[in-house]
Amino acid sequence: MENINSALENRVILGDVREVVNQLPDAFFQSIITSPPYFRHRSYSGTESLIELGREHSVNDYIHNIVSIFRELRTKLRPDGLLWLNLGDTYDDKSLLGVPWRTALTMKDDGWILRSDIIWHKPNAMPASISDRPTTDHEYVFLFSQNTEYFYNADAIREPHVTFTEKSKMKGGRNHFGKKGGTPENGKNAGNPNLHNGRWDQAFHPKGRNKRTVWEIPLSKFRDVHFAVYPEKLVEICLLASTRENDYVLDPFTGSGTTGVVACKYRRKFTGIELVKRYQEMAQARIDSIKQSLLFNTTVLS
Ligand SMILES: C[S@@+](CC[C@H](N)C(=O)[O-])C[C@H]1O[C@@H](n2cnc3c(N)ncnc32)[C@H](O)[C@@H]1O
Repeated sequence: MENINSALENRVILGDVREVVNQLPDAFFQSIITSPPYFRHRSYSGTESLIELGREHSVNDYIHNIVSIFRELRTKLRPDGLLWLNLGDTYDDKSLLGVPWRTALTMKDDGWILRSDIIWHKPNAMPASISDRPTTDHEYVFLFSQNTEYFYNADAIREPHVTFTEKSKMKGGRNHFGKKGGTPENGKNAGNPNLHNGRWDQAFHPKGRNKRTVWEIPLSKFRDVHFAVYPEKLVEICLLASTRENDYVLDPFTGSGTTGVVACKYRRKFTGIELVKRYQEMAQARIDSIKQSLLFNTTVLS
C-alpha cells in the first residue's frame, strides 16, 4: 500500500478517466473536487474525439457518461468521503438545457445522496451581447455523499455573522438588538425564546455562522493558460470542509491543476487525472512548484 500511496501523492496521471480509474485503490480518497467539461462548451484537446467528455452528440449521452464515470469513482472514495461537482449549463437553439440539475438528479437515481446545491455567483462574469434574457453569472456546485454520515468540518468554513451587525436592520430601520452595541440578552429581543434556550449557539457561534449556499467568488486570473480554470477560493472551501491534513484528494478532470495547487497549499495529498498532455504537464509543473516552495518554507497561503 505504501508504494501505491507514494505513486499517487501529488501526481497528475495522463489518460482517460475511464481507464485510469482502474489503477486507483478502492475506498482511498477523502474527497473528490472537480469540474468536468461542460456539455458542448469547447474542445480541450482541439479534436472531436469522443473520449473527451463534453463532446457527446446529445445531452443524454453526456449525462450518461458523467454518471457512469462517477459510479466508478465512487468506489475509490472513502465511505465517509464527499464529492463536490461543479457544473455549468448550455443553451441549445436558444433553450437552456438544464444540464446541471438533470445530471444531479440522475446521480441521485444512481445512488448518490445530494446534500447541497451551491450557487457559485461570479461577480466578474464576462459581459455577453445578449438583450433578450438576463446574462448568466452563476454555476452550480453539487455536494454528494455516499452515506448519511460522513466527514464534514463546518467550523473550517464558517462565515461572518450578518444578522446582528450594524448593517442589518429590521423593518423600520432599527437594528436587531434595539440599541447600538446591544446583545440579544439586553436588546429589544430580550426574552424572545427564538434567540435563547439553545438557539444562541446557532445564531452566535463564536467562529461565525454556518456556511451558506450562495458563494460569491470572482473568476480566476489564471484563465489565459487554460480556458476553464475555477478559482482557488472555490476549491479552498470544498477542501477545508471535506478533508484533514494529509488526506488524499482526487480531481479526475484536473485541467491546469487548481485543485492540486490548493490541496498542496493546505498540506493535503493530491491525485489528478487529465486527458490532454499539455494540461497534464502544466498541472504537474504547478503542483511541483508549490511543493518546492513549501519545502523551502515559503508562505504560499494567500
Ligand atoms: C473544465 S476543465 C477543468 C479545469 C480545472 N478545474 C482547472 O481549474 O484548471 C476539464 C478538463 O477535463 C479534461 N478531460 C476531458 N475529458 C477527459 C477524460 N475523458 N478524462 C480525463 N480528463 C478529461 C479536459 O482536457 C479539461 O482539461
